Amino acid sequence: MVILKSPSEIERIRQSNIMVAEILEILRQKVKPGADTLTLDKISEELTLARNAKPAFKGYRGYPFSLCASVNQQVVHGFPSKRPLEEGDILSMDFGISYQGYYGDAAITVPVGKVSSVAQRLMETTKDALLSGIEQAAPGKRLSDISHAIQSRAEEAGFSVVRKFVGHGIGKALHEDPQVPNYGKPGMGIRLKPGMVIAIEPMVNAGGYEVKTLEDGWTTVTEDGSLSAHFEHTVAITEEGPVILSATNGSA
Ligand code: MF3
Ligand code: CO
Repeated sequence: MVILKSPSEIERIRQSNIMVAEILEILRQKVKPGADTLTLDKISEELTLARNAKPAFKGYRGYPFSLCASVNQQVVHGFPSKRPLEEGDILSMDFGISYQGYYGDAAITVPVGKVSSVAQRLMETTKDALLSGIEQAAPGKRLSDISHAIQSRAEEAGFSVVRKFVGHGIGKALHEDPQVPNYGKPGMGIRLKPGMVIAIEPMVNAGGYEVKTLEDGWTTVTEDGSLSAHFEHTVAITEEGPVILSATNGSA
């Protein structure tokens, strides 16, 4: 069941998502060769607690950290570690909090120093695919119009979209209905209505779309070892169209 949110609830979800965006921005500035993601995890947690908020992922189905830090061929749910980041790596940071009962969830992929042109193109394409999906998040459209826009953008660049993980409704829970796939034919699924709030989160691989989860039960990597990027925004569907809630200054 899709839970519609009132304008005042959307403002509260925005508050949580602005915190997520601010914290991701601080983390982004700390990403460089020699930095390690366990330190980024600690910083994300401290910044969250300092805002009287709670990390959303820690303890969620037993996930042991506040931040998901996925490097290179890691797609999602990578464990933060002490291993220093190296020049040329790409790092996906997925982060969520809850504040006064409402959740925020967003992700970015950032370069570590100078990266290959394929890595750069993969990150840009994934961000563009997210923005094309967001454009479709308007009243009267159907859910799979979002999915189709994302898939088209990724595939026209020669990349592939991960099928195994999807976006989701968000509000008083981190994961609500509907599921938001990143692939599919247009014109299918539920009709989008003002008051829906969804996290849209394409994961795009440089190679094939297949992924596998490692023995830790979380870390998910590309089956073929190719690079992967991940961007996520929490978006409200309003009478006026899509509104990105997880942006610090209204911009994406
Ligand atoms: N953005 C991801 C999601 O919505 C992050 C979840 S990590 C988890 O599923 F640890 F909380 F599962
Ligand atoms: Co999410």
